[in-house]
Amino acid sequence: MANLNVNYCGVNYRNPLVLASATPGWDGEGMRLAAQAGIGGVIPKTIGPKQDWAAHPCNGRIFMHRYHGKPIGQINLELFTTMTRDQWLTKELAVAKEGGATMHISILAMPDPEDTAKLVEEIQSTGMADLLELNVSCPMPASTVGMHIGKSAERTFQQVKAGKSAAKIPFTVKLTPNVADMVEIAQAAKEAGADGLTISNSIRSFAGVDIDTGKPYLCGYGGYTGPAIKPVIMRHLSEVARNVDIPISAVGGVNSYREVIEYIMLGATTVQLCTAVMWNGYECITKIIKDLDQWMDEKGYQSFDQIRGIALKDITTVEELAKLPAKHAAVDSSKCTNCGLCQKVCMYRAISEKDGARVVDAAKCDGCGVCQQLCPLGAVALH
Ligand SMILES: Cc1cc2nc3c(=O)[nH]c(=O)nc-3n(C[C@H](O)[C@H](O)[C@H](O)COP(=O)(O)O)c2cc1C
Repeated sequence: MANLNVNYCGVNYRNPLVLASATPGWDGEGMRLAAQAGIGGVIPKTIGPKQDWAAHPCNGRIFMHRYHGKPIGQINLELFTTMTRDQWLTKELAVAKEGGATMHISILAMPDPEDTAKLVEEIQSTGMADLLELNVSCPMPASTVGMHIGKSAERTFQQVKAGKSAAKIPFTVKLTPNVADMVEIAQAAKEAGADGLTISNSIRSFAGVDIDTGKPYLCGYGGYTGPAIKPVIMRHLSEVARNVDIPISAVGGVNSYREVIEYIMLGATTVQLCTAVMWNGYECITKIIKDLDQWMDEKGYQSFDQIRGIALKDITTVEELAKLPAKHAAVDSSKCTNCGLCQKVCMYRAISEKDGARVVDAAKCDGCGVCQQLCPLGAVALH
């Protein structure tokens, strides 16, 4: 059994997997079930005031985005918790705590930073929270909260400063991916005193149109989550990890132990998940942790510290990569069944048929790698 413990912002987690702030933690029991499945940390749906904008549509608010019939992501129209603050303070947090996972509590950055500070005091006075996560990143609200704060470095700074001044426990911030440059926002959060960053919330998006009726699938802009968003999150995560020295919790598209490892190799300390639990139930947590344990043992790693950020040093600019020697595709005729796909997808017309197999004209091949990536038999390599 490998040592899966991690220390995030000075707080111990029995493993790096954390239930993200969302539907699976809509109440204390959901968080307790995740903890029972073995998760390292739990985060409730964002706790804020009970106001109109905390209500969400109860007439279908989630749309599965499919590719060839298989869900690759989902768009949701959910805002924050619909429970009162009292319910969380008097009951739900205590139920969640029974599970034994680290309690990382999500709170809403209120329109007035002074109210954010009051919310921090109220939540930490329960003694249930090990850390706090400030939500400046929900992509749905029409104005004043969520990403309307998080897209501005200045407003993020003010909110973090106010929250941090009231916090007696580690204070982290969940950022929005709906910005051109997350590094600038992350820097502002750090300067305001944030102990850690969650990267990140969902991507503002639109579900699409039913072409038989001409009606949108969801008649509002929502948050895109699930496997398809991982490349976007990895970009933000690695850019921040390379430029801002602060502990990071990564979240977006985790479906198996592999994504957890990838995020850690890009600098994360804890890794959160939501959509995978919504699609597979809490038991997927147990499998991910078991697989993580097995992978660590197989690789002979003693701790995640040994792999954290190891992929960052190899990331450079496209301009630098263009200076490296060119490679060309080559077809292994012993594996090739001559299906012709590589030739069809070669936009450089470098592949042709010869003696019952496909061959590459190296002088025409531009080394893009598409044929290699698409060959179903792994018969194409780049040399
Ligand atoms: C239905 C739903 C509700 C969500 N609610 C919240 C929320 O209340 N607060 C928050 O910070 N993030 C919320 N999120 C975003 C998730 O915490 C997470 O950042 C996002 O789902 C990406 O992770 P995933 O790809 O593993 O789902 C929600 C996501 C979904 C799908």
